[in-house]
Amino acid sequence: MQVFLLLGILSVAAAEDGLAAWLRYAPLPGVNHQAIPSNIVALNTTTSSPVYSAGVELQKGIQGIFGKHIDIGYEKGESLSTIVVGTFGAYSQEYNNNFNAPDLEEDGFWLNTQNDTVQILGQNERGALYGAFEYLSMLAQGNFTKVAYFSSPHAPIRWTNEWDNMDGSIERGFGGPSIFFQNGLIVNNLTRAAEYARLLASVRINGAIVNNVNANVTLLTPQNIAGLGRIADVFRPYGVQLGISLNFASPQTLGNLSTFDPLDPSVIEWWGNITDQIYEAVPDMAGYLVKANSEGQPGPLTYNRTLAEGANLFANALQPYGGIVMFRAFVYNMLNISDWKADRANAAVQFFKELDGQFDDNVVVQIKYGPIDFQVREPTSPLFANLLQTNTAIELQVTQEYLGQQCHLVYLAPLWKTILDFDLRVDNRSSTVSNIISGKRFNRPLGGSAAVVNVGTNTTWLGSHLAMSNLYAYGRLAWNPSLDSEAILQDWIRLTFGLDPSILNTITQMSMESWPAYENYSGNLGIQTLTDILYTHFGPNPQNMDNNGYGQWTRADHLTIGMDRTVSNGTGFAGQYPPEIAAMYEDPSTTPDNLLLWFHHVNYTHLLHSGNTVIQHFYDAHYNGSGVAQTFVPLWESLKGKIDDQRFEDVLFRQEYQAGHAIVWRDAINDFYHNLSGIPDLGGRVGNHPWRIEAESMVLDGYKSYTVSPFEAASNYSAVVTVTNSTVGTASTTLGFPDGKYDVGVNYYDLIGGISHFEMFLNEKSIGSWAGDLENRLGHAPSVYLDGHSATRKTIRGVNVKKGDVLKIVGTPNGIEPAPLDYVVFLPEGAID
Ligand code: GCU
Repeated sequence: MQVFLLLGILSVAAAEDGLAAWLRYAPLPGVNHQAIPSNIVALNTTTSSPVYSAGVELQKGIQGIFGKHIDIGYEKGESLSTIVVGTFGAYSQEYNNNFNAPDLEEDGFWLNTQNDTVQILGQNERGALYGAFEYLSMLAQGNFTKVAYFSSPHAPIRWTNEWDNMDGSIERGFGGPSIFFQNGLIVNNLTRAAEYARLLASVRINGAIVNNVNANVTLLTPQNIAGLGRIADVFRPYGVQLGISLNFASPQTLGNLSTFDPLDPSVIEWWGNITDQIYEAVPDMAGYLVKANSEGQPGPLTYNRTLAEGANLFANALQPYGGIVMFRAFVYNMLNISDWKADRANAAVQFFKELDGQFDDNVVVQIKYGPIDFQVREPTSPLFANLLQTNTAIELQVTQEYLGQQCHLVYLAPLWKTILDFDLRVDNRSSTVSNIISGKRFNRPLGGSAAVVNVGTNTTWLGSHLAMSNLYAYGRLAWNPSLDSEAILQDWIRLTFGLDPSILNTITQMSMESWPAYENYSGNLGIQTLTDILYTHFGPNPQNMDNNGYGQWTRADHLTIGMDRTVSNGTGFAGQYPPEIAAMYEDPSTTPDNLLLWFHHVNYTHLLHSGNTVIQHFYDAHYNGSGVAQTFVPLWESLKGKIDDQRFEDVLFRQEYQAGHAIVWRDAINDFYHNLSGIPDLGGRVGNHPWRIEAESMVLDGYKSYTVSPFEAASNYSAVVTVTNSTVGTASTTLGFPDGKYDVGVNYYDLIGGISHFEMFLNEKSIGSWAGDLENRLGHAPSVYLDGHSATRKTIRGVNVKKGDVLKIVGTPNGIEPAPLDYVVFLPEGAID
């Protein structure tokens, strides 16, 4: 049983910028630190060893949490009150004690706090560091339970992928530029890289691929290989092994060979040489990540070689060094839109199933959790059930590419758990994804997980304080996928924001409600995230899913919606699962509602298990989800004074943004399907906004009407923009609402390429002003258009209004941004617009 001491609550601390993440070691007031040992013994260490780091970390943590300085020694001392940290081997030698480690897996550890001497012993040095972090995590949470246990990882591979480009930009990164690269080179100052390795180690991540899967060959120049050596040097004390993504055509584009055919001897030799050079600089390199023959990347298919032959090329080069090839299963071709049976979801199994058994033992096929691409809900990739003689790893995404780009709170562990816990029933036997990727189910030597993280130089790492729960949860689940999402979250909350129960309850509520809310307003019933797949992947743009070769289709028309993926009449995808699962998905009556439109093409009036029709479910879900997002603002505000001002204000800004953008999502999707189906909302809400005033119906001076495309990204299809890019516009109107107090929302568009200014007046008295500067503050992929990505809302609360008052908005354009306005809404308390 865990004992969390009830502690006095610390008065609010100084501003925090997020850099310390969950390793703050904030003071615990009112705790008697006599019980904490008074020295540390770190065994058998050199300064680059994780055991050395463990000693330093313990000293730092205890100083921070208890204000108690304790010394570090490097051999057995006299004191009985000691924290001993080291490997089992070093411990047995130093203490002449043949302490028996049971079958601990590599990186596992033993933690014993039951006696005066705290034992933290690792199966290896890395394990010792993990044990030290575990002990510190308990102390920092005020948990002084006496424990003695072994902990082993569920799987050996627990890596991150960073999609950093050599120029310092990050593909799908929302936390600023790279901490590794700049101007084509490895940065000089690797302080942040070292701090990142420390964060990763604290959640037991043991490898990081540092460059984009869409890899640039110039990573392999001698200067950059030396730079990789420097990154590895700062990773090593934390037990994080460096790995890199490769561009398959490098022998030709960088090496000037005439070919990159994986079976050509000159190509084999070239990769062998490069690999030797890399291991010279990075003797403990983890391995390579390869994206081949996908989305324009070169690969072995060019030479009629199989993907397995391509993977084994690298496997051979790495084998002498113990390195691993992570070979991505994200391979698909562009599709013919008029082919009813074409399906991108089929691609991975089509490409890889027949190669089962042909990959070398140090190849791991890295499989995205779902068959398409990190959507808000996908069924488990059936490829996990089709590779019985191949090592596999799951690929998750911490960076919220399709899930709000860190501008919407979405706690992802519950989504990941739906996949990890899913039982694929291979051979009618229990076959959960977590037991497949660990290697246990099919008796494979390797396996595990990789997550695309994409931290940047922003002090919050990911661009948002609350998004860091996802990185924390990823590490925890990679180690132990059977953990509970909420329990992981609560550890993270205590470590990040302290022990106040109201903080714990509030952030737990917001986070646990966040994925369902996002799913509800961005695309439910398995239709995927209804975003713009050809542009930024951020805001709503449902029609953009179809009519292109990418195959993220919805097949929506005026009567029906959904992809028919049945064997009997559709793309056959359901048949890629083992029989029990295939049968469940083949039949709409046994398909869960939340995946109905993934597997079936049905009428909008089709009845769900819930009893609702598909279209009414859409309308209701979009109202419910966006309604939940509104509540995150007052929930967060209830923590004012309990969290330092800096983090409080940063999060409040994002929650207010999310509340506004959730309404943009709700209306865009509802208006789109309302328009397409012609079926009214039984709740009378869709298309009916009694508290709105459209900008285009106001009296305009210097503003003109503008038809927005896609149409559903504007209320009533239209917005207004200034007549020129250099002259001010005003929009005014006389209000007819009853006297009272209102929250006034202004929906406008915030484009990249200009910072317009807006000011709102009531009877010529200013009631608020703001700048269109979100592109500098949010970090999401920006837009140059008036669309679902740039549409946003500013809310001015508690405005007293009388019938007959005159409202005026003055917009000052800047750059290419013509101070665009969509509508104003006056919300009396409790009204839903
Ligand atoms: C997505 C993403 C790309 C990325 C690709 C991949 O399609 O949008 O930016 O390169 O996945 O995983 O390779």
